[in-house]
Amino acid sequence: MTDVTIDETALIAAARTAARNAHAPYSKFAVGAAVLLTDGSVVTGANFENASYGLTLCAETVALGTVSASGRLRDVAAIVVIGGAMDAAGRPTGTGPVSPCGRCRQVINEAAQMSRRDLPVVCAAAEGDAVRRYRLSDLLPDAFGPADLGIA
Ligand code: THU
Repeated sequence: MTDVTIDETALIAAARTAARNAHAPYSKFAVGAAVLLTDGSVVTGANFENASYGLTLCAETVALGTVSASGRLRDVAAIVVIGGAMDAAGRPTGTGPVSPCGRCRQVINEAAQMSRRDLPVVCAAAEGDAVRRYRLSDLLPDAFGPADLGIA
């Protein structure tokens, strides 16, 4: 696995809680992400849509942007993503695990490069126990990264 103990149940719970703050009035699809740092702390994010649609920020990007803003990209140890269609109360529903979109995979790769870890990516659902476990290299093989720019 990795050099940090991953409490997957707690991270899924954190991502589910974060998804309740999704701003997703257009898609009505709430996503939550929980990023585990090496000191055991957890940074969360939820998708943040806007009326232009195309400028939406995904949950993983919001969470990792927050991690970056606190100067801790090198400390990322794992990321969990959950999501599902919102019910009338705005809560995500459904038992199917959600995978990071292509853009988010590239954003996760930046954390993977900075932390020098092939990051665990855990995809879970809004409800139930279904989980898919990956490494980033499974989801984004041959990623474009700093080495392609000549940066070690
Ligand atoms: N979404 C995420 O937050 N993360 C992903 O990896 C996939 C998609 C959001 C974007 C949009 O607000 C909603 O899910 C439907 O696409």
